[in-house]
Amino acid sequence: MTTETQATAAASGANATDRFRENKKFAAGTSQERVDLLASRVIGAINQTILEEKVTYDEYNALKAWLIQVGEDGEWPLFLDVWVEHSVEQVANENRGGTKGSIEGPYYIPDAPKLESPATLPMRDGEQGTPLLFQGRVTDVAGKPLPGATVEIWHADDLGFYSQFAPGLPEWNLRATVIADQNGDYRIHTMQPAPYQIPTDGSCGKLIAAAGWHAWRPAHLHLKISAPGHQLITSQLYFKGDEHVGDDIASAVKPELILDPTPQADGNGCEVTYNFVLDAA
Ligand code: DHB
Ligand code: FE
Repeated sequence: MTTETQATAAASGANATDRFRENKKFAAGTSQERVDLLASRVIGAINQTILEEKVTYDEYNALKAWLIQVGEDGEWPLFLDVWVEHSVEQVANENRGGTKGSIEGPYYIPDAPKLESPATLPMRDGEQGTPLLFQGRVTDVAGKPLPGATVEIWHADDLGFYSQFAPGLPEWNLRATVIADQNGDYRIHTMQPAPYQIPTDGSCGKLIAAAGWHAWRPAHLHLKISAPGHQLITSQLYFKGDEHVGDDIASAVKPELILDPTPQADGNGCEVTYNFVLDAA
């Protein structure tokens, strides 16, 4: 990696903390009983690990220093979304019959510009990568099309960077809210994203290096699909043959979420069809 891209990766981490504070609405008011239960179990699991693995003072102090550094780097959103969110998503969506969900990750921005299908995502002149036509239908679980469904889509560019988190990208680059047509069909022209390495130059990167792990997520499209009277689903789609589809650092790949694009008839990049199924509200 060049010094320039390393600087960009660090900025993405800190921006994720600022954005989380600005955008995330969460209900406070968890009951005392629930806080007692969850906090006791988490603290208990840490203590159990220490006792079973005979953790030393050196290791305890290394942990303390590292936890302090994660906050200073602004990398708590990254850490949690990579190593924890997939379980929260599994619990949240375990009763759905429609399209499988996946993690939101740290780089969602609400209220992206609305575009009617067929749409081309905002991108720079000469945006690098392979053109991708991403299309399909949004239906209910019985297969009935949902006209006017919305497909919120955001993804990294060909270098793995997200607009509004890495500097130098236009504000809404590769982000939009696409409105499906009267048949529930959507057609989106974009560029295929690249495999994505979570920032390696901050404290999450230090953990990965110290543990001998890798930092890669497979290339992915982020999506939020919704329609009146139906439950919004947050998901991701991946690409068959991607080197990291089998060992995602964020444990967020599911077999139902892997696309297999084919070359476009006009020789201009690839196309793929994926139909979304929404559960009733
Ligand atoms: C992270 C980045 C992503 O693009 C994603 O989808 C999930 C997690 C991260 O850096 O934490
Ligand atoms: Fe992502």
